[in-house]
Amino acid sequence: MPVRPRLSVLWRDRAGRFSALKAATLLALTVPALALALRWSLVGLGARPLNAAIHDLGLWGLRLLLLSLAISPARAVFGWARGLMIRRMVGLAAASYLAAHFTLYALDQGFRPLHIGHEIVHRVYLAIGFTALVGLAALAATSTNAMIRRLRRRWKQLHRLVYAVAALGLLHGLMQAKSDITQPAILVGFFAWEMLFRALPARRQSAPLVLFLLAFVAAAATAGLEAGWYAAATNLPWRRVLDANLMPELYGPRPSAWVGMVALAVAILATARSVFNRRGRAGPSAPEPVPLRG
Ligand code: HEM
Repeated sequence: MPVRPRLSVLWRDRAGRFSALKAATLLALTVPALALALRWSLVGLGARPLNAAIHDLGLWGLRLLLLSLAISPARAVFGWARGLMIRRMVGLAAASYLAAHFTLYALDQGFRPLHIGHEIVHRVYLAIGFTALVGLAALAATSTNAMIRRLRRRWKQLHRLVYAVAALGLLHGLMQAKSDITQPAILVGFFAWEMLFRALPARRQSAPLVLFLLAFVAAAATAGLEAGWYAAATNLPWRRVLDANLMPELYGPRPSAWVGMVALAVAILATARSVFNRRGRAGPSAPEPVPLRG
């Protein structure tokens, strides 16, 4: 008889005990959807509410997808093994937000399958988004324990697809953003950090110096990618976009600054952890020898 998954797996650990971490994650993952629904019903979402909701859900889907990719680095840098318990949940939440993103798009198009198919085939950014969504659906469908057992080694290979899905999702986000790519550019920067981190040898991944260097490289790459995108896809002056990174007092923090600050915070925390661990290993200082009285 097939075993039906119980809803309580969402807040219980493998041993069936209540997990505060899983329950808190579940609650946190519903917040963007609830906030959107509340904003929509209480104050409205502007002149094109469906379009605004499509944007919001697309961005949250992508943020959560990148967050799920950040859980392995969090284990490597901070030894946070418990994070693995919520990785699948975060990945499935990303897939749900992006499924809702597509459903609202279909609603916006009057749920006309032929018209939607025609649009997807003829608009490159939709074709790219759709390819990413199909890939994500395949990953979500094979994320059950039964599928992990059945596919064994092939499961890991299949789930490496998540990096291609994220890259396509980012490209789709950039392409639709037209003249303001600030939000997708921030996400591209975080993805660049995650990819560079993965390329490091495992024993170097928690080395503070390497993480400081990575913060600098990821921030510079974000600035370069942002300016490069404007140069290739728009007629906005890319030199001024690049210069804006050096003038936060005029333009506010640019995507490179957000990426740099978060990556720097990771490097600082990793340094604090390594100092703390070294002290812990040294243990309390040896007791002073008591002089023998004769
Ligand atoms: C994994 C798949 C996908 C991801 C990660 C994704 C992500 C995004 C992101 C980040 C945005 C931009 C939000 C912003 O900058 O405000 C966006 C916009 C949009 N996406 Fe997607 N998306 C995906 C799939 C799809 C699919 C399959 C469709 C429809 C076939 C679609 C239709 C749209 C539309 C219509 C917009 C707004 C475009 C506009 O206002 O001109 N997306 N998406």
